[in-house]
Amino acid sequence: MRHFLTLRDFNKEEILEIISLAKNIKDETKRREFKPYMTGKFLGMIFEKSSTRTRVSFEVGIRQLGGTPLFLSSADIQLGRGEPLKDTARVLSRMVDMVMIRTFGQERLEEFAKYSSVPLISGLSDMYHPMQLLADYLTICERGYDKNLITAYIGDGNNIAHSWLMLSSKLGFELRICSPKGYEVNKNVLNNAYNFAEKSGAKIILCDTPQNAVTGANVVTTDTWISMGQESEKERRIRDFEGFIVDDKMMDYAQKEAIFLHCLPAYRGFEVSDEVFEKHSEEIFDEAENRLHVQKAVMVWLDKQR
Ligand code: CP
Ligand code: NVA
Repeated sequence: MRHFLTLRDFNKEEILEIISLAKNIKDETKRREFKPYMTGKFLGMIFEKSSTRTRVSFEVGIRQLGGTPLFLSSADIQLGRGEPLKDTARVLSRMVDMVMIRTFGQERLEEFAKYSSVPLISGLSDMYHPMQLLADYLTICERGYDKNLITAYIGDGNNIAHSWLMLSSKLGFELRICSPKGYEVNKNVLNNAYNFAEKSGAKIILCDTPQNAVTGANVVTTDTWISMGQESEKERRIRDFEGFIVDDKMMDYAQKEAIFLHCLPAYRGFEVSDEVFEKHSEEIFDEAENRLHVQKAVMVWLDKQR
């Protein structure tokens, strides 16, 4: 049995296998062909943070596969009142076939997984957001940008940046990152990525200016400056991220045909300008839709491993 807590635990072949499965499932979905890959299965979904895309895509996804979702807000279950995670894991394992959790520390996912006898999927932690990066990569492949891919990530060294590091270092493409001082990516994640890159041939470059990072890139991406749980740091962060907005001037440094991706929610006038967002809305909303298809693929893939 496998869990899906981070891309770190998956090799290139497995990631590409899931992407290829996602493409097939997307084609079937577009033809309104809903194959009952998971008939009679139940997916428990624990949310300790807010969500629009993750919640809707998992709920719709498991239903399209013939299964049933259970939305479990931590505000409404005993976990939120202090029931240990390891007990929650053992109870849910007796009643459902798969669990998804959106939480704070990555160690909460690891703790749950340790006691779970059903596959666990990360729906985001402070450290990683692997489902998002699978959706991003599917969007990139659909445009043929997986060949000669050069991605520039501008902004906070957060869960999204860490997941880009894992994706690039596993698959072997070039990733440039530029973050403001004090908001750099986690050193351990970076060192892991450098190690994986030795095998895959990925080029991972930390840049000193956003313009240097974006120069010649064909995918430009960013994320909110204020992640969930950081609301009290808002004013300081807005000051510290000055000069990191992805606007038309910044996009001018990229390749002419470059696409812009954003995991959403997006905050116009902060990490991205309204002009750049709207100009690239086609790929951004494909990216959002692709959450549905990759997550269906992940659930089917994990279910097959059992
Ligand atoms: N991108 C993403 O995970 O969105 P939600 O927070 O709405 O789930
Ligand atoms: N970095 C953001 C991603 C939201 C999908 C957060 O953690 O809030």
